[in-house]
Amino acid sequence: MNVDLVVVGSGFFGLTIAERAATELGLKVAVIDRRHHIGGNAYSEKEAQTGIEVHRYGAHLFHTSNERVWEYVSRFTEFTNYVHKVYSSHQGEVYPMPINLGTINQFFRSSYGPAEARALIQEQAGELAGTDPQNLNDKGIQLIGRPLYEAFIKHYTGKQWQTDPRDLPAEIISRLPVRYTYDNRYFNDKYEGLPVDGYTAWIERMADHPNIQVQLNTDFFDDNHEFSRAATLGQVPVIYTGPVDRYFDYAEGDLSWRTIDLEEEVLPVEDFQGCSVMNYPDEDVAYTRIHEFRHFHPERDYTKDATVIMREFSRFAQKDDEPYYPVNTSDDRAKLSAYRDLAKGEKSVLFGGRLGTYKYLDMHMAIGSALSMYDNKLKPHFTGGTKLE
Ligand code: FDA
Repeated sequence: MNVDLVVVGSGFFGLTIAERAATELGLKVAVIDRRHHIGGNAYSEKEAQTGIEVHRYGAHLFHTSNERVWEYVSRFTEFTNYVHKVYSSHQGEVYPMPINLGTINQFFRSSYGPAEARALIQEQAGELAGTDPQNLNDKGIQLIGRPLYEAFIKHYTGKQWQTDPRDLPAEIISRLPVRYTYDNRYFNDKYEGLPVDGYTAWIERMADHPNIQVQLNTDFFDDNHEFSRAATLGQVPVIYTGPVDRYFDYAEGDLSWRTIDLEEEVLPVEDFQGCSVMNYPDEDVAYTRIHEFRHFHPERDYTKDATVIMREFSRFAQKDDEPYYPVNTSDDRAKLSAYRDLAKGEKSVLFGGRLGTYKYLDMHMAIGSALSMYDNKLKPHFTGGTKLE
């Protein structure tokens, strides 16, 4: 085998490791992915009819306050000054999200100042004051009061989990953000924006190094190629960013995930909803939100004849579905702990990323944790420090 390192998965985690190992250490790296494209879930492409960039696995907004990550990602792309804002369509009226003074005043037909609004929400949340909520429904009421909870959170969460919030554990939410200003920026991070020429161009630049070879349509668990589990184990270090339960042949049971279905439609209008994301928190609408991709890049000269929307439906994942969000029940946590013990025995394999650690990671977190793994484990192994095995 003519490589020093095999990376399984070409998402942000795997490519960050591959890029560092090739650029800084001069290692020869093979990156394999079972999909037909690189980039993992951040992959984007032009919708064929309109040329509008769509995020194939759900909308991806880049944001971070981590200086190191920002400096690192800025080597591969410039960012637009896009600022993410979300709206919510409830019973025929549109409100700004997350819940803020604008939402509160519109909802209660009022003109409260911050202190009055805070007092009102506290009074409404007082309905369950002093109790120890045992389910998500009661917790939601205790956090923001019944009226706002039932309008914007209850059914939205119920649809996300396909479960009545009264049957969901309270621990799913620890807080529900309410802002007592009119600020409706979705993220609070220092840096925010979208890659100027798209996610795929950014990702391709990370992989564009003479020492990096990318092999697509290649599954680590298929034995018919030179970078398979059978061929690499014990030969070269492997960075594995696929599902941790799959690696161990589900020996400790399946970890549970939620997935989403995206229903794409090209509409013959310039602008469908006037914003990039509209939530639908009512029970009688099956989808949770609609994304309209042209609004992620208002600076681009997109066609005025058509627009692309995606309706998002949320559900529990079956084995063949894309695993998106860890469900993370106590049963899952017990299995994960058993998998972590098994992983410790695989000396030359490092498990990373969203699927490899069974953790929801935003892009900046995946990149940040890959940089740490590179510094703390991989670089020492190759430069005379602590060996992996
Ligand atoms: P990722 O899943 O991207 O890559 C893993 C790769 O491994 C995949 O390409 C897969 O095909 C490959 N693989 C798995 N098993 C394999 C095998 N056996 N053989 C070969 N290849 C294998 N983040 C953010 O910052 N802002 C946002 O707005 C969003 N939005 C968002 C929406 C949705 C719906 C999801 C699910 C996620 C987000 N994210 C996000 C999170 C973002 O997608 C996440 O941070 C990155 O995907 C993490 O990168 P990884 O490399 O860990 O995994």
